[in-house]
Amino acid sequence: MKTNEFIEKFTGSLRNGTFVRLTLTRPVKVIGRLVEIQGQPVLSLTFREATRDVTKNLPVAEAAGWLHQQKIRGALLSTTQQDWQLTPKLLIAHKPSVTVTTVRTHDRQKKTFLDDFAQVWLNALHTTPKKRQQIDRYLEIFSHLAEGMELRTIADMGCGKGYLTFALWHLLRTRIIGVEQRPELVAAGNQLARQIGATGLEFVAGTIESIQLPPVDALIALHACDTATDDAICRGITTGAKLIVVAPCCHQQIRPQLGRPEPLAESLRHGMLAERMAEWATDALRVLVLEWAGYRTKVIEFVASEHTPKNLMLAAIKERQPFTDPAARKRIEDFKKFYGITRHGLDELGRD
Ligand SMILES: C[S@@+](CC[C@H](N)C(=O)[O-])C[C@H]1O[C@@H](n2cnc3c(N)ncnc32)[C@H](O)[C@@H]1O
Repeated sequence: MKTNEFIEKFTGSLRNGTFVRLTLTRPVKVIGRLVEIQGQPVLSLTFREATRDVTKNLPVAEAAGWLHQQKIRGALLSTTQQDWQLTPKLLIAHKPSVTVTTVRTHDRQKKTFLDDFAQVWLNALHTTPKKRQQIDRYLEIFSHLAEGMELRTIADMGCGKGYLTFALWHLLRTRIIGVEQRPELVAAGNQLARQIGATGLEFVAGTIESIQLPPVDALIALHACDTATDDAICRGITTGAKLIVVAPCCHQQIRPQLGRPEPLAESLRHGMLAERMAEWATDALRVLVLEWAGYRTKVIEFVASEHTPKNLMLAAIKERQPFTDPAARKRIEDFKKFYGITRHGLDELGRD
């Protein structure tokens, strides 16, 4: 029986540490990954149901028994040595899509998401301890936001030297595209990716607003300058990304437009307060637009402000059909009217 053979391959890969991922495609979609909970490896199963994902964790020792009980009609097992595809009649071997495996931790006590192997690229990028802390914190937040999502392709917009691009690849071993306008950084990123055998990681030269992208499941942008954050949000929404995570940088577009509505007028005579209000208004508008585009949003302070004052993170998880809720649209219009904002980087989204 091909199914028994498939299950043996699965249990063998768990035993010898080559397991990467299990996907059951029929009758229900289930994705299984190894995670670590309180120091113990556990098979984390995500059941894709019509309107939601349900996650169940199974001790590794019970995994084979569970799989035997499933009426599998189609499945894919990824190991670092071979991928195995099970069809109703055949068991087909493919070249491995991933050649290195990691166990993801759900243990909140653990402060780092990177194993020793990461040291190679961390050193090559001359990562400072401060930057390393930011990366760890970012990975912690990202893995929490992405829990239960299948992320096959991720774009990192305005990736610079690629700290986060490498870090996300290291965490997920999936396809990650770093987009950067400076060709010398792109060349250096690709060279390092090749050097460490980072299958799936690539850097492309171009601008956030115009680069050709395949459909992406998640889009991130950390400190992309000024309206480049809006461009990144726009690309995330229009490519239908399930998850968008941006940490804005400088905010220049709204500041000159900001009116002095009562009862704020007196306070906004002070340049610093107007500056802060413009930043606040820019990010608040971004959140409103993401909600109009069908996303559930979170605003997070992702590192302490002594690390960087640009420490606000806007996260959005796709939940609904975009641009269907007139109340969400009206909130944007009312907000802009109140502050006298006539032009905003995301204005055109969802217009008829
Ligand atoms: C402040 S750096 C941040 C780099 C990286 N995300 C990080 O956090 O380490 C911003 C980067 O975005 C790039 N960038 C800014 N605007 C861009 C655009 N419109 N298209 C592509 N890259 C852009 C810059 O060249 C720069 O490398």
